[in-house]
Amino acid sequence: MSIVKLAPSILAADFARLGQQVAEAAQGGADRIHVDVMDGHFVPNLSMGVVVVESLRRVTHLPLEIHLMISAPDQFFDEFAAAGSDSFLVHWEGNNNLHRTVQRIRTVGRRAGVVINPATSATVLEEIVEDVDQVLVMTVNPGFGHQEFVRTTLPKIGRVRQLIERRHPECELEVDGGIDATTAPLVVRAGATVLVAGSAIFGDRRGVGAAMNALRTALKNTKRDTEAAERSALQRSQ
Ligand code: DX5
Ligand code: ZN
Repeated sequence: MSIVKLAPSILAADFARLGQQVAEAAQGGADRIHVDVMDGHFVPNLSMGVVVVESLRRVTHLPLEIHLMISAPDQFFDEFAAAGSDSFLVHWEGNNNLHRTVQRIRTVGRRAGVVINPATSATVLEEIVEDVDQVLVMTVNPGFGHQEFVRTTLPKIGRVRQLIERRHPECELEVDGGIDATTAPLVVRAGATVLVAGSAIFGDRRGVGAAMNALRTALKNTKRDTEAAERSALQRSQ
């Protein structure tokens, strides 16, 4: 099983010192930075846009992944790509032309991912999974940070993992929302390979580095748990 990647979500960062917070995340071993873009229409909240990506690009070499929670994503790919974005995550919900949207991301030469909300079935990915680099399963309803993890998404993560193994094993399986040291092991066991975390990383009073260490330690325990379970299953079968 591949090593799990961490994608700190800057939605929970202190925007007065964003560059420093991202540098701390990089030092803590972040694999990419997750940027939540909201338009107050697709989700009932406003967040950030291209200027933030431009500023971040000047201060970090980490890949910047843009989670577009906006009604008309296609018209912003050029601007975000020019600003230094590396990948785009677009929602299945409300997009009647998802395949075309993914092709547009390809034309600007960026990685493409498709996102599904908690109440959306894994089966909608059947016809798009081969065309994308990432699938993102929302583990909260999109729009806000610091929400409670929706547990019913766990079996769905397992179903998405099976689909990916069958149809496009290189595709990453990312999760977003309510990920902390308690839920991280659950989603990894279910099949996630990339974890987005906002408040668990930037809201931890111990600091960004310590928070990321705590997440990684929780995942190490997962691995140990899995190995221990496998060992005892083996012993039982002997
Ligand atoms: C929610 C966003 C998330 C959010 C996660 O709509 O897509 O990326 O920042 O925040 P936490 O980790 O605090 O749940
Ligand atoms: Zn997000």
